Amino acid sequence: MKLIIRLLGAIWVSSLIIIAGFAFVQIQSERDRLLTDLERRAWLLGEGLKEAVEPAIQRGSPHRIERILKKFGSPRRGIAVYDQFANLVVATPDLASRLPASLPMVSKALTAEEAQKGIETMGGEKTYLYAVPLQGEGRPAGALVIFMDASQIEINPSDLLQRNTLRLLILASVVSLLTLLVVRWSITHPMTRMTEWARLLRAGKPAPPPVSDRLFGSLASEFSELARSLDDAKAAAEREALLRLEGEALWTEERLKQFVRSQLNDTPLFVVSNREPLIHQWRGKKIEAIAPASGLVAALEPVMRACGGLWIAHGSGDADRETVNAQDKAGVPPEQPAYTLKRVWLTKEEEDGYYYGFANEGLWPLCHIAHTRPVFRAQDWAAYCEVNRKFAGALLEELKGTERPYVLIQDYHFALLPRLVKEARPDVRIALFWHIPWPNAEAFGICPWQHEILLGMLGADLIGFHIQFHCNNFLETVDRAIEARVDRERFAVVRGRHTAYVKPLPISVAPEEKEQEGGISREELLRELGPSVEWFGAGVDRIDYTKGILERFRAIELFFRRYPDYRQRMVFVELAAPSRSHIKRYQDLDEEVDRAVEEINWSLETNRWKPIVYLRGHHSHKEIWPYYRHADFCMVTSLHDGMNLVAKEYVSAAEEERGVLILSRFTGAARELADALLVNPYHIDEMAQAIRLAIEMPPGERTLRMGRMKQIVRERNIFRWAGLLLEELTRLSVHPAGVAEV
Ligand code: F6P
Repeated sequence: MKLIIRLLGAIWVSSLIIIAGFAFVQIQSERDRLLTDLERRAWLLGEGLKEAVEPAIQRGSPHRIERILKKFGSPRRGIAVYDQFANLVVATPDLASRLPASLPMVSKALTAEEAQKGIETMGGEKTYLYAVPLQGEGRPAGALVIFMDASQIEINPSDLLQRNTLRLLILASVVSLLTLLVVRWSITHPMTRMTEWARLLRAGKPAPPPVSDRLFGSLASEFSELARSLDDAKAAAEREALLRLEGEALWTEERLKQFVRSQLNDTPLFVVSNREPLIHQWRGKKIEAIAPASGLVAALEPVMRACGGLWIAHGSGDADRETVNAQDKAGVPPEQPAYTLKRVWLTKEEEDGYYYGFANEGLWPLCHIAHTRPVFRAQDWAAYCEVNRKFAGALLEELKGTERPYVLIQDYHFALLPRLVKEARPDVRIALFWHIPWPNAEAFGICPWQHEILLGMLGADLIGFHIQFHCNNFLETVDRAIEARVDRERFAVVRGRHTAYVKPLPISVAPEEKEQEGGISREELLRELGPSVEWFGAGVDRIDYTKGILERFRAIELFFRRYPDYRQRMVFVELAAPSRSHIKRYQDLDEEVDRAVEEINWSLETNRWKPIVYLRGHHSHKEIWPYYRHADFCMVTSLHDGMNLVAKEYVSAAEEERGVLILSRFTGAARELADALLVNPYHIDEMAQAIRLAIEMPPGERTLRMGRMKQIVRERNIFRWAGLLLEELTRLSVHPAGVAEV
């Protein structure tokens, strides 16, 4: 109410000021216009009469002058003629009675010998005077004076007041009315709805924000965020309380936070990876933030959100430079930063040699036994060394001023980084986590730079792999390839005074705590897939030759050929993200997959059904989630995989009573998820059989298997992975000479 009174007061006062201002200006200009008009008319008449009166005054003929004046005089316009001594000679009759005895203006005109003008009050009336000297034999013989009525120049303020009061009333009333309506519809009404909404949120009843306009839209989204954070905090507190009650030691986001606070004494955490957690890309004229399709990112992002710190990664998006500050840093997530991303820029040549070349045409096929031949080029190796040095420089710069920091280096892109950093800063505690498999010593031995790679890795205090088997392979490789003492008791490599510990640390995902809001339902999904569809399976992959996508499609084809009853009733949906598409092998695979889908669909499809729905493109977690949630089965058929987090994401999100996981036995995940239907992806028959088993599995068995897997993923979650890794790292006592001991 106070606001309305203030608004209306402001409207009325400002209307008053505006109208008064306009009236003042109007009076001034009207006055000027009238005066100019009077002047012009008086001048015309004066100058015209002057020529007629001059001969008469020279001859001293007042009668003639009188006749002339009578002709031109009128009640509102008087004329008078004075002699050279400023004495009145003749005046028009109406004027005579009002004329004063002497007129100073006449004397002035005679003395100055030029016309004089001005307004005077005569007989109580404003009169405009124009006095012009009359010439006679080279000197003034008299003066002619024109008197014009100037009463209209004086504008009556009360008239003005009357006229403008009406204007004021109309203007202020219309503006007040409109303002009241706008305030009501744009402020009061939405505010009332927002208050109602805030009340619901406070009561723990999430509802969509009631306003979406620009005025309150951002406020509403801030509110939503706040409510969500409060909700999450409340849920986390409840979970913690429950766990305390149950005496469980489950790793949660909150527990990891506490652990980092107490064990790391708030020393910031530094993470280095090639892939950044957020890529900024131009979409037309807008910048879009994309979370990349990467197991590494899916795993580490929640850890960084929980612990905070600095994540150094390659800035690979075409709009990345537009979204960082002068230090190439940006807060993530942008709306509520929990950690800092520092982007390192690479030239095209560096990216080509280091990422596409050595890392993904050399090390990737070398470590994955998927029968794609590794390619080793000297120039790629040079670029790999150069980029590792570049990242070491960027990291060391950031480590300045931090004593005994913790650094988590990720993956096969940075095999040389641990040693480069350790040599410069022996006090840094370094963990290197290798996200892909480690092959046996013979297989790794074909790498021309295996010594340099192993020595680089052994600069770390802790080297992590997903499974024990990869740790064993690594120790065997070190044993055969370089001079070092392999301590099999402690699972460590000792070189000089430095010890690198080797540990299996199976990576995982953050538990899915709640239903995704606004997700598409199973019924809607099935409807989209076809009118007769009753079941669907899902696959989620980067388009990579290690993922066994072609083998999976062949298994689906075989399933439909062998069990035709399922045609039209079952669909397989593949969500496939293009990856590393500058590499020929990946381009070829992309085409092969397209061709396979085309061929299988063509041979089996009907008018209203096709066996494979192939969704090629980048999909956000939110888009993928409904497929995970509602699929009857999910196929992870990697020919070889370090862990494969799609398997764990699926288990985490799937409906307990419905989902079945078909999982390649050559993934790290197969060691933990024994309740999946484990398959050999090279055995197409076996996979087709597994699809049938998945669909026909009795509900009780489904629930039992999925329940057990959910329990495993819930317990062995990403917070546990980070907690164990950091726990190992904090147990090491690292002293200045670069020696790591337990
Ligand atoms: O598995 C190794 C890995 O780096 C994963 O972390 C990630 O899922 C995948 O490869 C992504 O590859 P890229 O970063 O080359 O797209």
